[in-house]
Amino acid sequence: MHTDQRPRKLAAITAVIASAALAGTMALARPAAAATSLKAAAEAKGKYFGTALVQSNLSNSALTAVANAQFDFMTPGNEMKWDTTEPSNGSYNFGPGDTLVNYAVAHSMRVRGHNLVWHSQLPSWVSSLPTNQVQAAMEAHITTEATHYKGQVYSWDVVNEPFNEDGSLRTDAFYNAMGSGYIADALRTAHAADPNAKLYLNDYNIEGENAKSNALYTLVQSLISQGVPINGIGLESHFILGQVPSTMQANMARFAALGLDVAVTELDDRITLPASSANLQQQAADYTTVVNDCLAVTRCVGVSQWGVGDADSWIPGTFPGQGAATMYDQNYQPKPAYNAALAALGGTTSTSSSTPTTPTTPSTSSSSSSPGGGACKVSDAVNAWNTGLTESITITNTGSSAVNGWQLVFTLASGQTITSGWNAAYSPSSGQVTATNASYDAAIPVGGSVNIGFQANHTGNTAAPASFSLNGQTCANG
Ligand code: XIL
Repeated sequence: MHTDQRPRKLAAITAVIASAALAGTMALARPAAAATSLKAAAEAKGKYFGTALVQSNLSNSALTAVANAQFDFMTPGNEMKWDTTEPSNGSYNFGPGDTLVNYAVAHSMRVRGHNLVWHSQLPSWVSSLPTNQVQAAMEAHITTEATHYKGQVYSWDVVNEPFNEDGSLRTDAFYNAMGSGYIADALRTAHAADPNAKLYLNDYNIEGENAKSNALYTLVQSLISQGVPINGIGLESHFILGQVPSTMQANMARFAALGLDVAVTELDDRITLPASSANLQQQAADYTTVVNDCLAVTRCVGVSQWGVGDADSWIPGTFPGQGAATMYDQNYQPKPAYNAALAALGGTTSTSSSTPTTPTTPSTSSSSSSPGGGACKVSDAVNAWNTGLTESITITNTGSSAVNGWQLVFTLASGQTITSGWNAAYSPSSGQVTATNASYDAAIPVGGSVNIGFQANHTGNTAAPASFSLNGQTCANG
């Protein structure tokens, strides 16, 4: 019904969470099927499950098979940091970051921008600037990078690791030049460059309640009271085996109560090598705790692991003698922590084999065998339980020209009411619904796909919509 090509602002149910990349096997409506990947299970709970990738990972097919099958969210491990993006003053290099963003888009993963301001991986030209030039350099860096990635990142870690363990601020180049006000300045600058990106402060050892997280809490309260744009807190969660803080859930809840999102951003759980099977069981318990803590806090938008598997984890290189810190072993086979995380999310593993690591067809497969022959094809996977359901909708552009800005119209079965959605804005919440693209998924290239989805209440009828139209054109189903 709507034919204009530009995104419209609708009174929308906010689209904040999980991206909806489901495997091709989910193409038909399947009520109540338990999810068999981390991302599908997380999406069914309104969350995402992410990983970190570095550029060299992309040529490792065992790694990417797992990443594509399991994760719907991606953080570049190094490629958006200052030493890569602005190695000398005013000279920018976004190539490596762009490669990862393109990969994420092609595999229906949202991107966490990491990071704009950090004391580490900071080129020496910044730290050796006269203090009266640091603010301008910081603002230029933020503006240029956040503008470059505008519309392509879900969130930014605007300031990374600003605190010392005792709750004081690190006396890095930024603090030394500007005092504590650099944080507000960085957030305001990022917001001006990309008003739609969620802006985070990200740090480690702030997962539980302690001096460092208390100081962060006080800072954030003050930022909010001054009207500084801030949307979330990233809890890195680089844990030591058996040491997930018991106050993690309460800590997330107190930040959420300030009106912020929280996210587990860099999860790993390191073990003194060699890891025993008891260690791996403890690691599984630790992952269960973390996932359950996130599930218990509505504003916890998702969990991301730092890396895909033990073979690509940063831990052995940084903490000698430690390792085995992720859900996948050296050969990208799932460890007990994988099964635990999936089970905590309500998913199930296929027990007959290690299928989670079997290479799968990328979810963006641009199969042209669509029977309808229209300009679009829509597959819709319904996952229902007694009173609720999620739908994961994949829109494929089967036409011969790129879509740039879209609205997808469909009619919900009676009794269904959308309560939250992702990757699009949904309005109204029942009856005939229009889903309008988010800024970061407005473009659908020829043969390309976009995944969106929502969670809804139902009163017994869990049927998927019978048909979908994209920008006024009826799409083929399937
Ligand atoms: C790490 C990367 O994984 C390494 O490759 C790099 O050498 C150092 O940084 N906290 C963060 C991440 O916010 O950016 C760090 O990543 C890990 C700790």
